[in-house]
Amino acid sequence: MDMEQQKQRIAVFGAGGHGKVVVDAIECTAGLTVACVVDDRPLAGATLLGHPLAGGREVLLARRDEIDGVIVAIGDNRARAAAARWLGEHGLTLVCVVHPAAVVARSARIGAGTLIMPGAVVNAEARIGENTIINSGAIVEHDCDIEAAVHVAPGAVLCGGATVGAGTLVGAGAVVLPGVCIGPGCLVKAGTIVIRDMEADA
Ligand SMILES: CC(C)(COP(=O)(O)OP(=O)(O)OC[C@H]1O[C@@H](n2cnc3c(N)ncnc32)[C@H](O)[C@@H]1OP(=O)(O)O)[C@@H](O)C(=O)NCCC(=O)NCCS
Repeated sequence: MDMEQQKQRIAVFGAGGHGKVVVDAIECTAGLTVACVVDDRPLAGATLLGHPLAGGREVLLARRDEIDGVIVAIGDNRARAAAARWLGEHGLTLVCVVHPAAVVARSARIGAGTLIMPGAVVNAEARIGENTIINSGAIVEHDCDIEAAVHVAPGAVLCGGATVGAGTLVGAGAVVLPGVCIGPGCLVKAGTIVIRDMEADA
């Protein structure tokens, strides 16, 4: 069997800007290859980093024998969570993608469908839920607890023991101080410093 055949074949669901970085991360990772790029509304003849776009999502069901797993490449937290639910309901397997230039502690736990981008650091005993994005250069320190469908945007820093509820966006360059608890469905503005807990949907 040649090397290409041994690679895990990943379908990318979502062909916008976020889809582009997910395709790149897969192509940078030994042992992974892009099986197909699927979008609900692909433009006729369009490609993403050289991959022709297919759609809608039913293509994933028709091609299930050609793929080993799927990652949802949609930046919006709610839309990503909904797409992941649909995939689960249809028996498709969600996979994690960890860019080789990310640093992830051996004791960190990462949920299915989560993406860790280049330059990100996930430190000891951090826990990250399913379908979350830890974006480029973000830092998730030791013992942080991040729930599902969160987006930690580029350059954001979560200090040790911080917690983030499901569906929250931590904006680019934000800093969350040690042990601070951010509820589900929150929006942390880019560049802000979170010094105390945030209630749900704040
Ligand atoms: C907070 C945010 C959602 C506001 O967006 P918006 O609703 O379009 O707001 P506006 O740009 O109209 O700004 C509204 C007010 O908030 C202020 N504001 C906007 N973003 C701010 C920020 N990050 N920090 C402080 N103030 C901010 C504006 O200056 C404006 O103030 P004013 O009314 O006194 O003039 C947006 O600026 C933000 O931080 N988004 C996060 C983006 C991000 O990190 N995405 C991840 C991409 S990978």
